[in-house]
Amino acid sequence: MRRLLVLTLCLFLFASTSWAGGQEIFVKNCGACHKSGGKAPPVNPADKAAVVWEKYFKRHRHPVDLSSISPGDMETIIKYLKDHAADSDQPVAAAIPK
Ligand code: HEC
Repeated sequence: MRRLLVLTLCLFLFASTSWAGGQEIFVKNCGACHKSGGKAPPVNPADKAAVVWEKYFKRHRHPVDLSSISPGDMETIIKYLKDHAADSDQPVAAAIPK
């Protein structure tokens, strides 16, 4: 019985992390600095084309160390940025308000 409970809990935790939207993870992590009145100006997926986002992080172009963001979250964020990039079907220009 106890084992079943633990399993159910694990499944629930697993499911809730994968449900957390890319936008939420993006705003929470990137928006910590990138916001109006923050350390850096607001950024949004529609600022760049998908291929530019891909290269930007693969080539470590970001001027500030982002190693505090977990690799899993970073992957989710990059996917979100590409899915809503300037050249995507659903560009997002104001997840972080300007
Ligand atoms: C610890 C603070 C911090 C975090 C977290 C952070 N950034 Fe930055 N970012 C900066 C700073 C500072 C700059 C340089 C801003 C400038 O040049 O005025 C910058 C620059 C950038 C630039 C270049 C600006 C441009 O217009 O091309 C992009 C793109 C960018 N960040 C995207 C992101 C994304 C996406 C995330 C989340 C994965 C993120 N940043 C997380 C601080 C941060």
